[in-house]
Amino acid sequence: MKYKLNNIQIYIESNYEKMSKQAAYLLASQIRLNSQSVLGLATGGTPVGMYKELVRMHKEEGLDFSQVSSFNLDEYCPISRDNPQSYYYYMMDNLFKHINIDTDRINIPNGNVENIEEECKNYENKIIKAGGIDFQVLGIGNNGHIGFNEPDDKFEAFTHLVYLDEGTIEANSRFFDSIDEVPKKAISMGIKTIMLAKKIMLLANGKNKAAIIKKTIFGEITPKVPASILQVHPDVTFVVDEEAASEIIPLLK
Ligand code: GLP
Repeated sequence: MKYKLNNIQIYIESNYEKMSKQAAYLLASQIRLNSQSVLGLATGGTPVGMYKELVRMHKEEGLDFSQVSSFNLDEYCPISRDNPQSYYYYMMDNLFKHINIDTDRINIPNGNVENIEEECKNYENKIIKAGGIDFQVLGIGNNGHIGFNEPDDKFEAFTHLVYLDEGTIEANSRFFDSIDEVPKKAISMGIKTIMLAKKIMLLANGKNKAAIIKKTIFGEITPKVPASILQVHPDVTFVVDEEAASEIIPLLK
């Protein structure tokens, strides 16, 4: 089912697999339309199925990534790239090593550098040099974070160092052996970096995302719910499953 609320498009799919396929289809359409697209990519549990479908499209349908560039939203800090919990490792494992993207065009913040400030500045400049992001994929934290932009009193504009919320550390501890192993910091694109993307697609699935999806689309625009800023983006698409959409479905009818 597809809904349109002014600048916001919402696809509600019956389950995770259909959500993943719809998201992959929209991303693949972007690449087919512009083979040199600059993609903004997300990690987390949510987009795993979308990446799986993109790999299938590459292998079975010849979806060509050879001219595509990519910028990931975020990375833990400190973490080494060979740590299976790093977002670098995740991207290699779930997508990059299975497709024909040019490794020189892959960009992921390095969470293992001494000078974080310089890393953030360089990352932001690289995005500008690439001409900005054409299509940004987002997941969403239970507290409304996008990338690792945690709820705050103000929106942080550009790529920056983040101190992770307790709740985020707890939520992400499911990927680690113990909660103590979850890094306490991260490097994340800022809200302005994200909002400057020409198109944005946010994915969410599962009942535990239902409340935050409602707040994001229908709530007050506030840095306390970072994703709520998407309400003012000119071209944003939500691709969600029925569970994540359960609190917005009554408002769309
Ligand atoms: C992580 C990532 C976000 C992601 C979010 C949701 O902490 N930094 O980019 O969107 O949390 O994760 P999940 O998809 O596993 O629910």
